[in-house]
Amino acid sequence: MTEARALTTATAMEFLRADLFDQLRSEPRRWLVTGAAGFIGSNIVQCLLSANQDVVGFDNFSTGHQRNLDEAADGAGYGQLRMITADIRDRDACRAAVEDVDIVLHQAALGSVPRSMADPLTSHDVNVTGFINLLDAARQAGVRRFVYAASSSTYGDEPDLPKVEDRIGNPLSPYAATKRINEVYAAAYTKAFGIKATGLRYFNVFGPRQDPDSAYAAVIPKWVSAMLRDEEVVINGDGETSRDFCFVANAVQANIRAAFATDEAQGEVYNVAFGERTSLNQLFGLLREGLGRHQVHYSREPAHADFRPGDMRHSLADIGKAERLLGYEPTYSIGQGIEEALPWYIERFR
Ligand SMILES: NC(=O)c1ccc[n+]([C@@H]2O[C@H](COP(=O)([O-])OP(=O)(O)OC[C@H]3O[C@@H](n4cnc5c(N)ncnc54)[C@H](O)[C@@H]3O)[C@@H](O)[C@H]2O)c1
Repeated sequence: MTEARALTTATAMEFLRADLFDQLRSEPRRWLVTGAAGFIGSNIVQCLLSANQDVVGFDNFSTGHQRNLDEAADGAGYGQLRMITADIRDRDACRAAVEDVDIVLHQAALGSVPRSMADPLTSHDVNVTGFINLLDAARQAGVRRFVYAASSSTYGDEPDLPKVEDRIGNPLSPYAATKRINEVYAAAYTKAFGIKATGLRYFNVFGPRQDPDSAYAAVIPKWVSAMLRDEEVVINGDGETSRDFCFVANAVQANIRAAFATDEAQGEVYNVAFGERTSLNQLFGLLREGLGRHQVHYSREPAHADFRPGDMRHSLADIGKAERLLGYEPTYSIGQGIEEALPWYIERFR
């Protein structure tokens, strides 16, 4: 077994606090995880499998990879995964997928603000039409609990920090608009039909399996892989843009907490983050130092490019609502998350 696989196995067991892990194991359920071959989805799958759950994965592999699933199943060591290769734009496939499922964790979407600027219509089709296809299939099948990936981009041009769930601005990109529309439909379905659709507004999630090679890669995998290849790191803007970076284990925990939350806590939206702000300049330093501890020495200075259109300037979550109503307790800071993630990137991209 390679070092990276051993690390991944350990991580899976540590993703959830002992109480939640025990609760999961003592109450096995059938889960549908869409976007299962993606970054966040495959980490959720791994946790569920390692807690001996019955998991149905759903993905069209447009941005996800079979290798993520292989690693998730391998890391979990045992468990039950049935994979459906299909598109959430296909209503029949959505109906078939939700049969006999207890809980849906809906992660499938086309992420990335720049992708949505380049091709807004496809982002709409997948993120809005695909979303309602799945939500409606779940309603018709009588699934009671539907947890979905919302986004901090919904805060748009609202300038106040920290971000509080009920104070949002106007979306700054087509991607943000799709995620906002998800919330509108989820609230309408929760009111009109009694299905409890709970949104998790993820704030810049990072960790193992986040793809560095996509044209729309997120900042951490993009920079780590550039540093490992001794290529130039480009900062958009002056580097004082800030984000609340959230290690993927925290996002996985939020999904399981939301699935198990009381009836009153369902059907709401929650910030999912660590609750700390890091500028891009600070992030560059953290990654360079972290790699240095693994004998990877990056000596170049970053280049600066223009600010990216559609991006928010600052982002920081108030996570009080998730703490109070879901029992969410993020266990990894940005520094701890980087320590967990770097060996995975070093193993693959050095
Ligand atoms: N990563 C973040 O920082 C972040 C932040 C906010 C919200 N989110 C949301 O979290 C979710 C997961 O994001 P991720 O970072 O894991 O991205 P990802 O691209 O790694 O995963 C998305 C998965 O969905 C699948 N998918 C895409 N279109 C599909 C379709 N039409 N039918 C079936 N499957 C499809 C992809 O193949 C991929 O496996 C997304 O909804 C994203 O918008 C992510």
